[in-house]
Amino acid sequence: MANSKLLLAFSLHLVLALFVLDLANAQGLKLEFYKKSCPSAEYIIKKTTKDFISRAPTLAAPLLRMHFHDCFVRGCDGSVLLNSTSSNQAEKDAIPNQTLRGYQVIDAAKAALEKACPGVVSCADIVALVARDAVLEINGPFWSVPTGRRDGRVSIASEALTNLPAPFFNNITQLIASFASKGLSVKDLVVLSGGHTIGIGHCTSFTNRLYNFTGRGDTDPSMDQNYIANLKNRCRQPGDTTTTLFRFRWTLGAPKNLILATTLLWAKEEACSNLMQLFSMIVPLGLMYNSAQTLVDRQLS
Ligand code: HEM
Repeated sequence: MANSKLLLAFSLHLVLALFVLDLANAQGLKLEFYKKSCPSAEYIIKKTTKDFISRAPTLAAPLLRMHFHDCFVRGCDGSVLLNSTSSNQAEKDAIPNQTLRGYQVIDAAKAALEKACPGVVSCADIVALVARDAVLEINGPFWSVPTGRRDGRVSIASEALTNLPAPFFNNITQLIASFASKGLSVKDLVVLSGGHTIGIGHCTSFTNRLYNFTGRGDTDPSMDQNYIANLKNRCRQPGDTTTTLFRFRWTLGAPKNLILATTLLWAKEEACSNLMQLFSMIVPLGLMYNSAQTLVDRQLS
């Protein structure tokens, strides 16, 4: 019961936050956009996603991340899916996207849709719907996904680097600015960071904080020393590109895991962990999105 309340509350946050993400690039999205042109579209996407995630549940997290990475570069236009050519390196090959996985789910859904209704459903909508359906399949929250996105034809690796918030350089001010540049508020930043409730991080995403924080072989002084020792045990070398940490699912323990994961991945300041502490309050209390804003405002003032 408590668990389902938690998921319901979180889903309400996600519904609104992810919807806001789309306002920047696509006016006129609506629920059931394909109702007449391809009535089975959402069913086909859901079924394809279910087929994959039931066999490989760890794909849900990178698919959610793919949606975020798509939306932050040129809006939610599917540009993350385009391949590089001999004259252009595409977003897909930019460093932050090299750990994305799950393209085969998008391809399979697109292939099934092309059979049912050729040329109707955009890849951008498929990415958005697959992300939602994949999270749902691992018992995560549901959020409504308005559709009608148009596919982009431009995909430039350097734009992924400049638009996606990077794990190495961020402080809270930069993170807030990055989200603001997409029309997203601090509340959206906090709520969307809930995406880190699931998934993994590679040691390379944070080993600089364990082994070489300022370039002098030092550790990040803002981190707990015991936690650093623990992480060093698991990420044994600065150049460890293969080891991964975290494997979270939607559970009641999620807020605690989320704080650990998110503060490790990008928070270098107290303000960041305060925000995450706040998130951990918002979720279990089952607060609505607007109440979350009040708390965020209070925290930042
Ligand atoms: C606020 C700025 C953000 C930063 C700096 C950030 C950074 C990162 C980093 C460094 C990783 C680990 C990548 C790896 O080592 O493989 C990661 C993973 C992940 N991120 Fe974020 N992220 C942010 C926001 C988001 C948002 C808004 C979402 C979705 C709502 C999201 C969803 C995920 C997921 C699901 C994973 C796990 C992926 C997997 O298991 O393969 N992130 N993020």
